[in-house]
Amino acid sequence: MRTPFTELVGVEHPIVGFNRSPAVVAAVTNAGGLGVLAASAFTAPELDAQLTWIEEQVGGRPYGVDLLVPEKFAAGDPGDLIASLRAQIPQGHLDFVAGLLSRYGIPDVPPRAGASAVADEITAALSPAGAEPLLDVAFRHRITLIANALGTPPAGLVARAKTAGVKVAALVGQAKHARRQLDAGVDLLIAQGTEAGGHTGTIATMVLTPEIVDIAAGVPVLAAGGIASGRQMAAALALGAAGAWCGSVWLSSAEDVANQALKDKFLSAASSDTLRSPTRTGKPARQLRTAWHDEWEAAGSPAPLPLPLQPMLVNDAWRRIDAAAAAGHEGALRLESFFIGQVVGSFTEIRPAGEITRQIIADCERRIAELGALL
Ligand SMILES: Cc1cc2nc3c(=O)[nH]c(=O)nc-3n(C[C@H](O)[C@H](O)[C@H](O)COP(=O)(O)O)c2cc1C
Repeated sequence: MRTPFTELVGVEHPIVGFNRSPAVVAAVTNAGGLGVLAASAFTAPELDAQLTWIEEQVGGRPYGVDLLVPEKFAAGDPGDLIASLRAQIPQGHLDFVAGLLSRYGIPDVPPRAGASAVADEITAALSPAGAEPLLDVAFRHRITLIANALGTPPAGLVARAKTAGVKVAALVGQAKHARRQLDAGVDLLIAQGTEAGGHTGTIATMVLTPEIVDIAAGVPVLAAGGIASGRQMAAALALGAAGAWCGSVWLSSAEDVANQALKDKFLSAASSDTLRSPTRTGKPARQLRTAWHDEWEAAGSPAPLPLPLQPMLVNDAWRRIDAAAAAGHEGALRLESFFIGQVVGSFTEIRPAGEITRQIIADCERRIAELGALL
């Protein structure tokens, strides 16, 4: 399959594998797609190590990185960003989270050495200036593509990418966002529908994709949100997309780092078991609905805080819930959740990411041939 996307980044198949596990990124790239590493959960030295490892696995094949640099960020004192942000978290919110963990009996897991410094560095990296060290690392590596969600790319990123010959991509959920991204000079748009896992808007992929393709006027567009099979990928191509950007499906891969308890919850979930909720990051993000959301929605619960205060409030709770759920703790299993899209309802087994990639491509090609035969 040749599309403007395969030409743009030099891959065999027009499919992107977005994931935080370097092994998934390498597997998708080695299967002929484009693996893209979610960089926002890493410190700069960690990202450096992960990209080095990916390059050792893929032997010159293309791969990309994705940053999460929001346009809107709670104001803090640049001199002591973390402390000034922490001071904005109301005591009532801290008490609510502590009470929730205690009601579910979640054990207090000791943080690993240096964990709070790492968490602070990651929080700071979510600010436009704080993302610079991650960008420095990314541009020191042999990346083919750099993507950003949550707004137009930070100042200087596009110029820096053009000099380095790196393609810039941006995720958009509305037509007006696409116009701003095109003005900023991006090389690739990802039309991400509301079905998608993670931060997402309210417009469905079926409606959004052709809208964005029309606005893009020749700039390649990938469809994202709700694509986990060859049939869905063929539908994306039919809408005018130059390929598919997939996120959720890799959470059903053997290489994904999610604990087995979470993977088991995904395998038994229906497509109606997700919701858009700001309770993890402060912005609406699609995730698996669990007792965590019931607690936040109960009468008397506080309203979630804006980004990055909400992740600062709940990230340590999630570290404890994940650890306890992985160990089979009953209360933790009721709360356990993660970002996932509506395609979770189609997961039937855990498979290697390369096999998933090859199957989506083969099924898509067969479907396109079947459609051609209808004429
Ligand atoms: C677990 C998870 C985490 C995500 N985190 C990010 C992120 O940090 N940055 C980003 O640009 N997109 C993120 N996304 C969205 C994906 O890039 C992608 O657009 C989306 O998963 C596509 O829809 P799908 O989930 O139906 O495949 C995330 C998605 C998932 C499932």
